[in-house]
Amino acid sequence: MIILQGLSKSFNGVKVLDNLNIEFGDKQITVVIGRSGGGKSVMLKHIIGLMKPDSGKVLIGGIDINALKKKELNEIRKKFGMVFQDGALLDSLTVFENTAFPLRRHLKLSENEIKDRVFSVLEDVGLKGQDKKMPSEISGGMRKRVGVARALILNPEIMLFDEPTTGLDPVMSDVINNLIISMHNKFKFTGIIISHDISGAFKTGDIIAMLYDGRIIESGTPEEFKNSANPVVKQFITGSMEGPILI
Ligand SMILES: Nc1ncnc2c1ncn2[C@@H]1O[C@H](COP(=O)(O)OP(=O)(O)OP(=O)(O)O)[C@@H](O)[C@H]1O
Ligand SMILES: [Mg+2]
Repeated sequence: MIILQGLSKSFNGVKVLDNLNIEFGDKQITVVIGRSGGGKSVMLKHIIGLMKPDSGKVLIGGIDINALKKKELNEIRKKFGMVFQDGALLDSLTVFENTAFPLRRHLKLSENEIKDRVFSVLEDVGLKGQDKKMPSEISGGMRKRVGVARALILNPEIMLFDEPTTGLDPVMSDVINNLIISMHNKFKFTGIIISHDISGAFKTGDIIAMLYDGRIIESGTPEEFKNSANPVVKQFITGSMEGPILI
């Protein structure tokens, strides 16, 4: 479904992605871990075509998205749901209207159809009865769930999550991880999660991949990943100061 081939990207002469290669399996959840500032969000922005690589390709369903015209790229983007790190909710709109936003933008539905779909997805994410609240009236974890609901509402084939649990307490992180798992079971999307949360990654990921020094240095099932012989991976998952990772 999604293949990154020899992707390189520099900013002001500094290489952030350096010949990065990875294939994201169809209908699987891949969790990408790596250091702050390591290029994870940059990688995600290449996948949705918000950034263009200096060299290399982004293939979605076999199509090189950087060879597309704007209109064709917009069509491909409809396949994507993206959950932003801060939720990126519109502060002046209710939970209902935030969730309905992509529907109103992309589809011509009756008000009743919109209501049905919004109420159904809000129930899926555990926000039944919260539709009239404003973003400022709900907690951070609830805002993340509204972000998930909004990303799911067009029933996308691909879901991208940029640090869905960062800034949440461990219990709420677990709630969000479980929500991603149950939504994945229900909607069967291809999922890419960027995360710093190692235990969450092992729980939610079919595949764990580590981005380091601009490339993917390890990827495999959680079991394979835990048994990695790579000293960088070992240091990262144990969270130790000692090891090859430069601070
Ligand atoms: N538009 C941009 N212009 C210039 N530099 C950028 C731009 N976007 C990202 N960078 C740089 O690229 C590097 C990687 O950034 P990125 O946001 O991908 O890191 P990250 O792995 O997502 O980190 P974090 O875990 O903290 O979110 C950083 O050094 C950042 O300053
Ligand atoms: Mg980031």
